[in-house]
Amino acid sequence: MKVCVIGTGYVGLTTGIMLAELGHQVTCVDIDKEKIALLQQGKVPIYEPGTEELVIKHLNTNLKFTAELSGPAPEAMVIMIAVGTPPGKEGIPDISAVEQVARELIPFLTSYKVLIIKSTVPVGTNDKIRQLILDSGNSALNFDMVSNPEFLREGCALHDCFHTDRIVIGGDSPEAISLVWSMYSKLTAPCVVTSLRAAEMIKYVSNAFLAMKISFTNEIAAICEGYSVDIKEVTKGVGFDHRIGHHFLGAGAGYGGSCLPKDLQGLLHMSKNCGTKAELLKAVKKVNDLQITRIISKLEQELGELAGKEIALWGLTFKPDTDDLRAAPALSLIPQLLKRQAKVRVYDPIGMANAKPLLPGKVTMSEDMYQAVRGAHGLVIITEWPQFRHADLERVKQNMQEFVVVDGRNIFEPEQMRGLGCRYAGMGR
Ligand code: UGA
Repeated sequence: MKVCVIGTGYVGLTTGIMLAELGHQVTCVDIDKEKIALLQQGKVPIYEPGTEELVIKHLNTNLKFTAELSGPAPEAMVIMIAVGTPPGKEGIPDISAVEQVARELIPFLTSYKVLIIKSTVPVGTNDKIRQLILDSGNSALNFDMVSNPEFLREGCALHDCFHTDRIVIGGDSPEAISLVWSMYSKLTAPCVVTSLRAAEMIKYVSNAFLAMKISFTNEIAAICEGYSVDIKEVTKGVGFDHRIGHHFLGAGAGYGGSCLPKDLQGLLHMSKNCGTKAELLKAVKKVNDLQITRIISKLEQELGELAGKEIALWGLTFKPDTDDLRAAPALSLIPQLLKRQAKVRVYDPIGMANAKPLLPGKVTMSEDMYQAVRGAHGLVIITEWPQFRHADLERVKQNMQEFVVVDGRNIFEPEQMRGLGCRYAGMGR
């Protein structure tokens, strides 16, 4: 099948790569010419394990890259829109890039095509885009809209694409739905066929539910601390209940990234639009914001006033295996530390280059995790990169001025840390 994917961010690029691997003829389009030039040379501009190998494998055979929509759009049977929908004013998702792409597509809708919106868009956007195209005088016979949200996670995007739990296809044309279904026919995941609006809603609800699980666990973790109970033991026991499950019960510094916070905001906005109070969703955000305050309190409990204290941070990205810092908890923590006049030094295995322009000049960028803790009074682990788990803790102890660790991702065992003479604080343990 000839597929044109518009937008080469995490979602568009990974989906394009997957469709090429499934045997389709895919052309990925992006207005960012520099990005396209890199991709045309087989270089992937984002850090996403496994993507570069597959781009090189399919480059110029099943997978092409261009900045010109006019090349692939007329020939493609399926056009997939996967451009960004960042939060705009008051958290309202900004769908202007989707609208812009739709306008640019109008001249190419001269023969029948299926238009898939892959981007996360507020409920009703597919209808809006269809109307936008019809208003241009284009015939409804020339295209069908399909909502096909994406559920991949950064850091394991390819794995999630090939082994997705479900494929959601929302639409009102049975022909378009079967065409999109057949495009994924080599995948074994169940296919959920819904209305356009239900598919749009499924995406928001999935991310909001995941955020709720994390905030719920973090709230329980705080209660566990009060009763000297280990949250990890609790979530293990709770997670075996199939109705609850083990996933997303990790207590810590809270959720970040470009999706969970944004989509929760988006859903809150939709609730406001229809006059629903959505108290639970509001609380999910509130609890998440509280995690940074909890980390600061734990540091202050061990070190007293933070003014003049050297605080090291291990990790900056919003989670491991990505170079993405969007809404990363580290970016909320650092200003709070600086406000208290602490001296901050940071280290992240992959995120340093992306972090540099985002951090105040006062923050010291360290070359490795041991340099970051040299002379430090306290260490905060904010991203659970595997190398931190395997750190030489004796060396960390020797390097630090005071062996104080606030483990914002619960990567160490409290007993072991205390046995080494560490003043250790986990999250809920
Ligand atoms: C999330 C969803 O998991 C994907 O299904 C969805 O497709 C994607 O958003 C999207 O909408 O595009 P992602 O943002 O890549 O994926 O990252 P997650 O793995 O969900 O992690 C989000 C945040 O939650 C991270 O900061 C992570 O550290 C935190 N988290 C995760 C916890 O604090 N505890 C947990 O138990 C799990």
